[in-house]
Amino acid sequence: MPLKYLSLYGSRGIKIVKGEGQYVWDSNGNKYLDCHTCHGVAFLGHRHPKIVNAIKEQLDNMISLSTAFESFLRDEVLTALERIVPRRYNYVYFLNSGSECVDFALKVARKVRKKVKFISFTNAFHGRTFGALSVTWNPKYREPFKPLVPEVEFLKYNDVNSLDKAVSEDVAAVIVEPIQGEGGINPATQEFMKTLREVTQERGVILIVDEIQTGCGRTGYTWASDMYGVYGDIMLVGKAIAGGFPVSIAFLTDDIGSQLGEGDHGSTFGGNPLALAAVKAGVDVITGEDVPGRARVMGSKLMSKLSSIVKDFKIVRELRGSGLMIGVELRFEPKPVIECLQAGGVLALKAGTTVVRFLPPYLINDDDVENLSSVMSRCLNEETTRRLNVKTS
Ligand SMILES: Cc1ncc(COP(=O)(O)O)c(C=O)c1O
Repeated sequence: MPLKYLSLYGSRGIKIVKGEGQYVWDSNGNKYLDCHTCHGVAFLGHRHPKIVNAIKEQLDNMISLSTAFESFLRDEVLTALERIVPRRYNYVYFLNSGSECVDFALKVARKVRKKVKFISFTNAFHGRTFGALSVTWNPKYREPFKPLVPEVEFLKYNDVNSLDKAVSEDVAAVIVEPIQGEGGINPATQEFMKTLREVTQERGVILIVDEIQTGCGRTGYTWASDMYGVYGDIMLVGKAIAGGFPVSIAFLTDDIGSQLGEGDHGSTFGGNPLALAAVKAGVDVITGEDVPGRARVMGSKLMSKLSSIVKDFKIVRELRGSGLMIGVELRFEPKPVIECLQAGGVLALKAGTTVVRFLPPYLINDDDVENLSSVMSRCLNEETTRRLNVKTS
């Protein structure tokens, strides 16, 4: 029997054969504006030359090295990261995926706090390994795999009133996305983030800010934490940071990092030389090309263009987001609109149950914005007509 791929994301039905900048091409030569970007990974563009060159150079030098050995490259990466990471974080740990990084943060919180309980929020998404899934809200993802990590309580996202009572001294950590990505592009309110920080600080509870999707400039700020002026005790970064290379990073305050030692965690591939070279180049791109600034400008252009379009459609409930992290909430499951966008040369992805999510590379230009908006307008039109026809037939 031939081997079959276990397609757990479902299939988009096209074979993508090439990517460059903000575009990808399929096997029939069709070009797409990529606002899927591998779940937000290719935010720095496909095959950014700085990242490609850094990885190529490192390939010629060394691929594998345990982090038990000292490394000049690692020293350089730490220096590079100092340029973009909020000053309150003093320790850095490299891993390979977002979920793995979330698991690490939960372990760290348990060890440091000597408490068991975690708090997460409705519609939160933190990944699919056992730890990460345990603080992920969607019952569809959780139910088949129970029992998960015990003592996780989900509070209502943005409900300021629930925080005081629930975030007691018995809690090891609270984990939060400043803007929920997979859960529907739901931004936290300023008051919610501020109160969450105050309450956790007061009770000595660790605040884990998951910037795996919001980080690296996508929201128009280097970190969404900058937008709120609210910082965690642990910040998690992944997806875009290494320009497409699989890397995640946990940043820890001095107080937390200094309590960890040999044997508390490990990862065979975490912090490998290729990953480090890619991170260093990624930081160069983020700072050298003012990625957050560009995301802010292009994001506001895309947002205002989309808002002028969606206001005419009753099938659209709301437009939300920040920078180049944008969601169009429909009144129904978004699959037909996402399929129509794909047929029109724009790749988008679903968020929550009803949201069309756009996570374009920071390289998106004025023509791309025009193109995306006109395809979206056409697709919303077609879907409106289709729904009317279904109703009347
Ligand atoms: C906010 C957030 N945290 C964690 C994850 C999990 O990352 P990964 O799929 O790399 O394990 C994701 C992935 O979408 C995410 O958006």
